[in-house]
Amino acid sequence: MKIINPKLIISAVAPKQYPDGQLPEVAFVGRSNVGKSTLINTLLQRNGLARTSSQPGKTQTLNFYNLDEKLYFVDVPGYGYAKVSKAQREQFGQMVEAYLSSRKQLRGVVSLMDARMEPTEDDKLMYNWLAYYQVPILVVATKADKVARGKHNAVESRIKKSLNFQPQFSSLALFSAVEKFGSQEIWDWIQKQSGV
Ligand code: GTP
Ligand code: MG
Repeated sequence: MKIINPKLIISAVAPKQYPDGQLPEVAFVGRSNVGKSTLINTLLQRNGLARTSSQPGKTQTLNFYNLDEKLYFVDVPGYGYAKVSKAQREQFGQMVEAYLSSRKQLRGVVSLMDARMEPTEDDKLMYNWLAYYQVPILVVATKADKVARGKHNAVESRIKKSLNFQPQFSSLALFSAVEKFGSQEIWDWIQKQSGV
């Protein structure tokens, strides 16, 4: 899907700041530094729209991107970043949980995991938690350029096994922002979930 004019509408820290209206939303979650903001930029073909960094902890608010008045992408702060204070981690956690568990417009969550690693305990918690709330999930194994092509199937199997993957409500895609593959499959899933 080609988006002409993506706009950052608000960087929210509380529900009263979420945008009004009934546009469908798709959120991007994952460990800090896994590549959420980069994936958003790649899908929108806009380098630098979502701020990225080689340092973890770049995105600290719920960033709502309005895409041509059709849907919102929501860039969510990463979890598992050891260097922020415990109090700040708890505050992020509450903010993210409140959004993911109660946002009526949320049609699906893209859950990023590093293709090179076992899903972390936090990745598994997030997956199970979303499943509990019956939110459709697309697991994206990202930075797949760092894994040899011949091992891509093994990456998929390993992640599915580790998550105790439930295909009724979740799908899995491999992605690389560097080699630019996976975008179409991810867009197909987003369009199916959001009906746009
Ligand atoms: P926080 O906002 O801190 O939670 O991080 P984030 O998940 O938004 O990560 P971000 O998009 O800022 O990317 C983190 C780092 O990973 C950057 O240095 C990116 O260039 C790099 N990166 C992201 N996607 C890929 C990818 O597909 N392949 C490779 N090789 N590097 C990537
Ligand atoms: Mg980010």
